[in-house]
Amino acid sequence: MVAAEFDLPASHIDVPPVAIAALPTRGIAEAEVLAEVKDRFGRNDYGHDRNFAISYSGMPAAITRKVEELAVGEFFVEWADSETGTLSMEREAVGMMAGLLGKPDAPGFITTGGTESNLAALRLARNNGKRDAPEFIVPVTIHFSFRLGAELMGIHLVEVDVDDHTLQPDIADVERAITPRTVGLACSAPAGSFGTMEPVEAFADLAWRKGLYFHVDAAFGGFILPFMRELGYDVPPFDLSLPGVSSISTDGHKLGLLPISTGFFLARDAELFEAIPTERTLIHTTSSTKPGSRAAAAWAALRNLGWEGYLQSTRHVLALRDTIVDGVTAIPGMSLAAPKFISVVGFVSSSIDLERVHENLLKAGWGHSYGVLRGRPFIRLSIHPSRTAEGARGFVEAFEAAVARAQS
Ligand SMILES: Cc1ncc(COP(=O)(O)O)c(C=O)c1O
Repeated sequence: MVAAEFDLPASHIDVPPVAIAALPTRGIAEAEVLAEVKDRFGRNDYGHDRNFAISYSGMPAAITRKVEELAVGEFFVEWADSETGTLSMEREAVGMMAGLLGKPDAPGFITTGGTESNLAALRLARNNGKRDAPEFIVPVTIHFSFRLGAELMGIHLVEVDVDDHTLQPDIADVERAITPRTVGLACSAPAGSFGTMEPVEAFADLAWRKGLYFHVDAAFGGFILPFMRELGYDVPPFDLSLPGVSSISTDGHKLGLLPISTGFFLARDAELFEAIPTERTLIHTTSSTKPGSRAAAAWAALRNLGWEGYLQSTRHVLALRDTIVDGVTAIPGMSLAAPKFISVVGFVSSSIDLERVHENLLKAGWGHSYGVLRGRPFIRLSIHPSRTAEGARGFVEAFEAAVARAQS
């Protein structure tokens, strides 16, 4: 899987392959269909315990599956069910996240994840900014969803370059990119590529001085940075506690132990939403009919795990990361692509052929991402709290073996 999406050419085109598959005339027995499903799942490249590849491939908290059974099996709930029922859980889940992210009274809603949240941010910025030919400024490291949103909403996305090695934008470049048409800014906390924290405070300060909308994409950070801070890590301010932050998003399905697809979008002020027209079933999000189980599962997991549960999960995932980082960087020739910060890490090498290491790891059934960024091949891992210490050690051993084979 290639993760260097910010270095892919903008014209990159991916056409879905066609499968000619006829609807069977007569329904096939349930047991037979289930056996086929199991078989197909088993043919994936790697098992979930060996999957350090995609961003959100971990088991959600156990309670969420029980909530799903209740939601689908017993109550059959939809998202828009009443304020005292399902919706009350969405409101309170959003409230708990608002408390974690710097402003307990921040209004917001549950989304399907980082992409939909980023679309909401662009929409709020554009509609509140009221400019002809609107422009929105991001570092080039921003998630692709901003390009999608800009295309859909007729916004010109101004992408500021980053340093080849630190992958950080220079705030002076961001300031220079501001024009009378600018409706907002965004950066990531941290970026999805190698987990590097972007200069959120500097962005917030600039946005505040210029009176611009500023969104923080904390897809990865929202469920780990507050807990890292308590564990004594140096975490700079990144959330609604900074007055210049207009909105923030985070994904429950990354480090929040919530099922795919659960994201949160939070705004500083209720008035910001007045710029977004809505109707009963499509309030703020980009999809109408939604499962009620998502809000309920989020609410249940947040209450079931509590602050201590997430603290423990953070401690655990960072210990896994350290096992992997220490093991891989102990291999002569291997180093980190960027300083380690959260549970997403990248490795580079000036002497080892990482493409061969990548192929060897894949053959051995270990999921990871491989790509080339600014001319440097890299291997990237997204480490989920549902991985085990044994899995982390297993990955290091597999990496050592993959390097040895690449060098033989
Ligand atoms: C920083 C960042 N923002 C947004 C997203 C998009 O999230 P989703 O896949 O949930 O739409 C990702 C996905 O990895 C990400 O890393």
